[in-house]
Parts: sequence; C-alpha cells; structure tokens
Amino acid sequence: MTKPQTGLIGLGTMGAALALNIAEKGFPIAVWNRTTSVTHAFKADAGDLAVRITPTDSLADLVAAMAPPRAIILMVPAGPAVDDMLAALAPLLDKDDLVIDAGNANFHDTNRRSAASLPFRFMGIGVSGGEEGARHGPAIMAGGTAADWARMAPVFHAIAARTEDGTPCADQMGESGAGHFVKAVHNGIEYADMQMIAEVYGVMRDGLAMPAPQIAPVFAKWNQGTLKSYLVEISAAVAAATDPIGKGPLLDMIVDAAGQKGTGRWTAIEAQNLAAPIPVIEAAVMARNVSARRDERAKGQALYGPGPQTASFTLEDLEHALIAGKILCYAQGFAMMTAAAREFGWALDMPAIARVWRAGCIIRSAMLNDMATALATDPARNLMLAPFFADHLRRSLPSLRRVVSSGALNGHGLPALSGGLAWFDLMRTARGTANMIQGQRDFFGLHGFKRLDGLDAPHGPWART
Ligand code: 6PG
Repeated sequence: MTKPQTGLIGLGTMGAALALNIAEKGFPIAVWNRTTSVTHAFKADAGDLAVRITPTDSLADLVAAMAPPRAIILMVPAGPAVDDMLAALAPLLDKDDLVIDAGNANFHDTNRRSAASLPFRFMGIGVSGGEEGARHGPAIMAGGTAADWARMAPVFHAIAARTEDGTPCADQMGESGAGHFVKAVHNGIEYADMQMIAEVYGVMRDGLAMPAPQIAPVFAKWNQGTLKSYLVEISAAVAAATDPIGKGPLLDMIVDAAGQKGTGRWTAIEAQNLAAPIPVIEAAVMARNVSARRDERAKGQALYGPGPQTASFTLEDLEHALIAGKILCYAQGFAMMTAAAREFGWALDMPAIARVWRAGCIIRSAMLNDMATALATDPARNLMLAPFFADHLRRSLPSLRRVVSSGALNGHGLPALSGGLAWFDLMRTARGTANMIQGQRDFFGLHGFKRLDGLDAPHGPWART
C-alpha cells in the first residue's frame, strides 16, 4: 500500500466515523489515538476498509507512516487539547504539512492559531452532522487559505454530504477562523430551531392537551411541507417513541434540562461583540440555561400555581408561527455573518453558506434552497426584505402573532418565537423609540443627540450652563 497522505488523530465517536468515511472514499489514512488499544481495535473492526487504514502507536510513528506533504486531521476536544497537539506535532512536521482542526473550536482560537508562527500549515474546519454525518456525509465549513482549501477539496468534496443535484456540501468560507465562525452560527441556529420546535411542542402538550403520540404525526405532517427539515423530522420520531424501559411515551420520561457544550453561547457572545441583533438565538441559549434550573422552576410553580392549560389558536397557526420564526431566525443569523465578514475582513459568501447547509448538517432543511436563491440575488440583503420571504412572512405573521399573544395571555413561555416577532416589529418600524433614549442620555450625561431636521443640535433645555 502507498503511504497515506491523510492522517487523523483522535478516534472518538466522531473521529472514528470520519476516518472510516475517508477510507471508504478511497483515501488511505493513517490514524493515531492516545490509547493504543483503541487504534488497533479501530482497524480490526473496520472490515473491508481496514486495507486503507494504517494504525500507528505514537505521533512520531504517525508522521513516519505518512508521505509528505501530509494532511493530519485533529479530532480532539476543543480547547487546550488542540494547542497541546499542535505543540507535540511541531518538532515532527515539515513546513508543507497541514494540520486541520476539525473539532468545534472557538473561532477566536482558530484565528490565534492561524496567526501563530507554527512550523507547518494550519486550517480550522467546522464539521456538522453528528456521528451519522461524519460517517456518511457531513457538511464542511472550511477556514484557511485558498491554497490549503484547493489541496484538501478533493478529500472534503468526496466525504461530504451531497444535495439532491449532487453538489457536495463542503466549501471554503474564508481565511483563518471563518470556517469555525460559520459553524458557531450554524450551532446558534441549531439551538434556535430546536428551541422553537420545543416551544410549539410545549403549547401542543400544555395548551392543547395533546399527548406525545398525537404530537408526533403533526411534526411528521409539517415535515412534508415548508418546514421540511432534519430537526422537524427527528422531532416527530422523538415524540413517537415509546419508553423501552417503562410505559408510555419516552418523551414524557426525559428530564427537561438541556445540555450544551457552548457553541450556541459563543454565537450569542459574539453577536454582542458585533452589535448584531440575534434575539431568537439568544433566547434559545437563555432557555437552555433556564431549563437547567429545575428546582427553582418547581418552586416558581409551587408559588404561582400550575402552568398553562389552554391555548387559543389552531395547529395550522402553530405551523405558520414556526415558519415565520424560522425565517426571522435565519435572517438574523445571516445578518450577523454579514457583520462578521465586515469586522474580520472575511469574504463570507452568504449564498455559498446557505448551499453548504442544505445537506449533511443538523440544520439542513428545504427552506435553505430558497435562502440560497434569495441571497444569490443580493447577498447583503436581510432575508426578511427578500421578496420571496416577505411573501412568506406576510402569510405567516398573523399566526405568529396569535401564537405569541396566546402564549402571553395563557402563560406559555415562548422566548424564541416572541423574540423573533419583537425583532420583526422593530425592524419594520421606520420611526422607532430610541429618540427617548437619546433624550435621556443627554439629560443625565450630556451625550448629545442628532436632530431629524439636520440642524445643529445643542443639548436639551435640561442642560445647565
Ligand atoms: C453538529 C452539531 C454538533 C454539536 C451537537 C451538540 O453540527 O453536528 O452542532 O457539532 O456538538 O449538536 O451541541 P450542544 O451540546 O451544544 O447541544
């Protein structure tokens, strides 16, 4: 067997799946894992693909087993483990070797590592799709130089998911940390999509008294229409599952406290740094944090009485509320990426991002086709102003208003749906209310303000001379 030019470090669930995917697409691959027995078991279990897999027992062995120029994919936990690995590889690699961080790195770390004077080439890529995606076709959001992208594109295109027309969902997003930044926004949107689905599940359960087995076919039906997406599809499956240990729907037995590894939070933090309004994503992060406070929520219920038991809207309203919420959330996410491109000097290609998200990743959905088309017409335009989505919003907003107002009246917490609606209403109001804030700022701090008539603006009459 010729020496592999591709290597992979870290044979956890995702790393192992990615290595098998690479081998399956015809690329010989050398692998190394901290625990040697894991490395050898990986090859032993690889079946027909084992012929393309070279297990190695140390980093030096890994490097020696590969032909230069080498490309080594890191699948180790984000954070210090990546820096430790780069330091360990430094004395072993040549300047044309390329190390690719494929974990969920914070893009600031990827920027820092890209700017560091490493003795080899470095790129950071965002990989989405969970274990199944890694094994059979993830979406890949690559950062790094055009030359490194061109070098790796044959591998990434081969292993990536493909859309129905055969386009691989792998592309270069921009230099340095751009790939990991786009992946972070993907995850922020992932949180928001999941939260909005959880909100409509909640009003079906608590407001319309629908048991999980009745909710499942509603999601399944929505998945045949405008909302067709991986997350709606799996929500139907989750609602339909029966408890394999006890009795009844499994969903009713799952603890209502959501975990999180931090990528959604990074998106919310970065949005604040960029002054980019993404209230739907921020609401989703906030709701995960609230979900973890189970004891306090129980005390709240004991004090204020049971939660909502009624709702005043139809299932069709709920479907349209989710459609509107989704459009508003993506409009915010793309606008944030436009702000980041400006701030960081990245040439982020908005239609290309929408195209990469069409298959393989967790937020894949039919609507992303239309978003790619709308953004191709005008990449800088806010999606809520694009004619196609404006038509959708005109149709679905009355339902969103009914659902959100019913939630407010009856006591359903709907932070993501209502955050989207409030943002929409602010964004469609030419004469806002910040003139009052400017007046207040001038009153207490003489911060000044501009006048609508363009005349020079002295301070208000409240200013003491
Ligand atoms: C993906 C996902 C993945 C993420 C999990 C868990 O695109 O495949 O975004 O990268 O790690 O979804 O994320 P949380 O633990 O933060 O929910």
